Amino acid sequence: MINFKEKVSDALSAVIEELSKEEIDNLVETPPSFDMGDYAFPVFRLAKTYKKAPNLIAEDIKEKLGDNEYFEKIENAGPYVNFFVNKEKLLETVYKDIEDKGEMYGSSDMGKGKNVIVEFSSPNIAKPMHIGHIRSTVIGNALYHIFKHLGYNTIAINHLGDYGTQFGMLIAAYKLWGDREAIEKNPIDELLDLYVRYNKLQELDPAARDTARDWFKKLEQGDEEATEIWTWMKQLSIVEFEKVYDMLGIKYDSYKGEAFYSDKMPAVIEEIKEKNIGKMDDGAYIVDLKPYNLTPLIIVKSNGTTTYATRDIAAARYRKKTYDFYKNIYVVASEQNLHFQQWKQVLKLMGDEWADDCIHVNFGLISLKDGALSTRQGRVLKLEDVLNKAIEKTRDIIEKRNPNLENKDEVAKMVGTGAIVFQELFNQRIKDYVFDWDKTLSFEGETGPYAQYTYARCKSLIDKNGGFDPSKVDFDLVKDEAYEILKYVYDLPRTIVMAMEKYEAFYITRNIIDIAKAFNKYYAANQIITDDEKLTNSRLAIVDITQKAIKVGMNLIGVQTPDRM
Ligand code: ARG
Repeated sequence: MINFKEKVSDALSAVIEELSKEEIDNLVETPPSFDMGDYAFPVFRLAKTYKKAPNLIAEDIKEKLGDNEYFEKIENAGPYVNFFVNKEKLLETVYKDIEDKGEMYGSSDMGKGKNVIVEFSSPNIAKPMHIGHIRSTVIGNALYHIFKHLGYNTIAINHLGDYGTQFGMLIAAYKLWGDREAIEKNPIDELLDLYVRYNKLQELDPAARDTARDWFKKLEQGDEEATEIWTWMKQLSIVEFEKVYDMLGIKYDSYKGEAFYSDKMPAVIEEIKEKNIGKMDDGAYIVDLKPYNLTPLIIVKSNGTTTYATRDIAAARYRKKTYDFYKNIYVVASEQNLHFQQWKQVLKLMGDEWADDCIHVNFGLISLKDGALSTRQGRVLKLEDVLNKAIEKTRDIIEKRNPNLENKDEVAKMVGTGAIVFQELFNQRIKDYVFDWDKTLSFEGETGPYAQYTYARCKSLIDKNGGFDPSKVDFDLVKDEAYEILKYVYDLPRTIVMAMEKYEAFYITRNIIDIAKAFNKYYAANQIITDDEKLTNSRLAIVDITQKAIKVGMNLIGVQTPDRM
């Protein structure tokens, strides 16, 4: 695609000797509104050398620039030189690029040869995935696709919470009361019940605590029976989790959870001790992190057990060795900020400078507006139930709006789950957010269904006409009326890079909404299928560009797009 910003810098550097092209490029801005042009160059930096008032400098530069084929207009306004892109060229370049690349629009090979790990979701096994897990799951999946689109070799890891004394309890409880068949039928609920029941038993009978501890020890030592039971519970949990991941179209390359690092921790602990990084403290082995303004990190507890943090250190090491990653991304709630700062600091003290390539992508809290969402039994709200409820509600809406739609169930699934994902990715991740059913499922405003609906509208317009004929497209007819859509579609590739750099999928979500809004405005003002063949084909080309761009964006954020809805 034509890089208009670079054309601006090219033109400017030909007439400004005092600044390098790179300096100029860094100064070029995007004006706050379309009527001020597509690019603006502020001249303040030149005031000293030119010893002239900024508005006169701007006037001067404008004069020197003369005509430029890439810009239909270059103006000076106060201390700025404003550039208005040649709309025909804009349309031409966007059209050509998106028709060529289709779903690969905005892709690049900038990540070629670089391995990027995205660790996301990472629930604890034998427990339900609840609404709180939606954020990591959805943000992580989007980042995975974004990095992949930019040519990185991406690896999706689910760092399951499958380690800890509670598994000793679960095994002990299973040995006491376990019903294999019942558990296999309804694993998570049954295992949760076992866990709760055993907890109560422990309160009454301290011996039960010892039994659980023994089982955990056996598990750690690789005892056959303990391992068999634990592996079985883990397998059952993954099957349950995958129901949710399937609904969201998520696939993992690895389910290596915490337990996998069990036999890799001794070497880490050994090394920390050898390098004299830590010290004994009340029977525990800790690393003092005061010089870094952090609280101490416990490596081995006073009872001899390892910690969550030690496993993270071992895991990071293993990943570096296995994948030689360029980046190792952890999509984990900001509640764990300290934890990540601590173990990364310890890695650095161990001499692993690449610890800085371990990126904690954090996010704020989710809460629920609709009281009805919290279950009466005080149990957590299961993610699967939330998704199913969204699908159900969407099914009702479809029944009202479009009762004759084919494969309503399929569409309800895409729109219901898509609505939740879209809303989740609509704001900066660090912000807390309140989950609101009405807002999420609305077909109006800035929602997933709105974007999907726009996509489906485009698709059906093209189909209604039996496709369109690219040889009968005349850009001149539509370049002005479709300008706003084109601007946003042109922005998308850059937005994708920004989303990658800042680990913020919401830039893409917003770009999709901008495109959809611009299109709906266009659609309201212009009849697409007319008696004029050329005009119809040209307008359908715009429809096609819109449809393709929305699809690219939606793929990246992990939302499906039904052709009809
Ligand atoms: N299982 C943990 C939890 O549910 C999240 C794991 C995050 N990942 C990590 N590498 N520490 O809170």
